[in-house]
Amino acid sequence: MMAELRFTLPWRKLVFGVQPVNLFSVIVCLLVIFPISESEQVSGFCGAAYGESEGCSYSSKLLIKGGTVVNAHHQELADVYVEDGIIVSVQPNINVGDDVKVIDATGKYVMPGGIDPHTHLETHFIYSDTVDDFFTGQAAALAGGTTMNINFAMPINGSLTAGFEDFAKKAKKSCMDYGFHMAITKWDEVVAKEMEIMVEKGINSFKFFLAYKPALMINDELLIRGMRKCKSLGALPMVHAENGDAIEEAAQMMIDLGITGPEGHALSRPPVLEGEATARAIRLAAFVNTPLYVVHVMSIDAMEEIARARQAGQRVIGEPIGAGLVLEESGIFDPDFTTAAKYLMSPPIRKAGHDKALQAALSTGVLQLVGSDHCSFNSTQKALGIDDFRKIPNGVNGIEERMHVVWDSMVESGLITPSDYVRITSTECARIFNIYPRKGAILAGSDADIIVLNPNASFEISAATQHRNSDTNAFEGISGKGKVEVTIAGGRVVWEGDELKVVPGSGRYIEMPPFSYLFNGIDKADAAYLSSLNAPVQRVKAVVA
Ligand code: URP
Ligand code: ZN
Ligand code: ZN
Repeated sequence: MMAELRFTLPWRKLVFGVQPVNLFSVIVCLLVIFPISESEQVSGFCGAAYGESEGCSYSSKLLIKGGTVVNAHHQELADVYVEDGIIVSVQPNINVGDDVKVIDATGKYVMPGGIDPHTHLETHFIYSDTVDDFFTGQAAALAGGTTMNINFAMPINGSLTAGFEDFAKKAKKSCMDYGFHMAITKWDEVVAKEMEIMVEKGINSFKFFLAYKPALMINDELLIRGMRKCKSLGALPMVHAENGDAIEEAAQMMIDLGITGPEGHALSRPPVLEGEATARAIRLAAFVNTPLYVVHVMSIDAMEEIARARQAGQRVIGEPIGAGLVLEESGIFDPDFTTAAKYLMSPPIRKAGHDKALQAALSTGVLQLVGSDHCSFNSTQKALGIDDFRKIPNGVNGIEERMHVVWDSMVESGLITPSDYVRITSTECARIFNIYPRKGAILAGSDADIIVLNPNASFEISAATQHRNSDTNAFEGISGKGKVEVTIAGGRVVWEGDELKVVPGSGRYIEMPPFSYLFNGIDKADAAYLSSLNAPVQRVKAVVA
């Protein structure tokens, strides 16, 4: 079986298949040459597997020398030695032989590669298929310093097993490690049983949509049942928190008012509807006594509900996304449809002020980790809703931009330290999804997923230079300090000197076991609750005369 690799060289464009670790197939497949359109181009790839051709050499031994190694709780000047995809040693002045590739990190930060907890690669989402597949999306991620993503797998006609198989097949072309969340869109005994199978297959989180009526939205009854099932499996329930019923009504109101453009989307999904659904999900999670993960927290309203719950001791995780941290609502009011539509996502990007409040919440631990919610559509797909904003595919990009915009807006600005940065872009995600310290750390024994970030170099974001499949970019024109100069994924240098060297099929599926730290003590709280009931009350039966 061959995966497809899109590969652009200055002198020709190629699409060919590569079967890693099989030189014969590489040579054979190189013979298949035909042009691809400009919009499909993904530039800068090295089309070789595991050191098989010039320019793509893969050394299994690496030394990252002289950098500041940053973990979530500590930073130190140290070298990092890697062998066969694993970090072997982290200490000052490591001496190595000539067979080791040495990367000079003097004056730079050496950090765990980013883990993006929220992506939608190769996903059919209501009206359209997202434009980035597992290869193009992950290649872009690697260029931006992310070395693992957790993608939302979608059921097929409600079947989790069919959905899992579909996504497992699509992910075979991965060039970095990945895991899955699974969405729950209907409820019956089969789905409940399939959730058990999903956990056996390495999925430890399930997403419930409280919006997107009628395609995906579930009601409170299903949410409660789903949360109970999650809890029994040690799996984390996740919610897309917006009030879908109110949105439907508000959207119709906008259309009736003649507001058919992208701004109608933002106007029909105000922060109060995000706050309401967040509060409801939090209270239902408290009722069930389960941890809860709120995806794409976009507003102060939702963030404050999370803050209140956490202050009261409830285990609620809040995930803002790159777009929510650095963009603001005015984009969707742009007079140019293509420009406005590229900012359209749910919940919407909010007015200025929400972005800074979300950053502050991350800096103080009220919110815990940053995702991208990378759900990218090109301008042709967005134009499906040119006459009716309800038909514009929902989603923005961010898989390639997340690490840069968070560094610039939060570390470079002085709001957080490099250690905080590692925590919110990598370590906390690994802990929540129970793969720490294999992922999310620069420690002996951890996977060699590493980035070298130069705090003195600059980045600039543009659709013209991005490494993925779209003609637009919601972060267009944003520039800043702090550039990921080297990315190492599974011990391979995949991004260096502004050049990608990625191999389809080299990414591994990472099973995520249930019962993360978030479940510690839940059983004790349940027992305490039961013993606090003082019921049933023993009553002497009254004698009726
Ligand atoms: O608009 C968005 N967020 N699209 C992706 C799907 C989702 O709701 O996460
Ligand atoms: Zn969502
Ligand atoms: Zn999403």
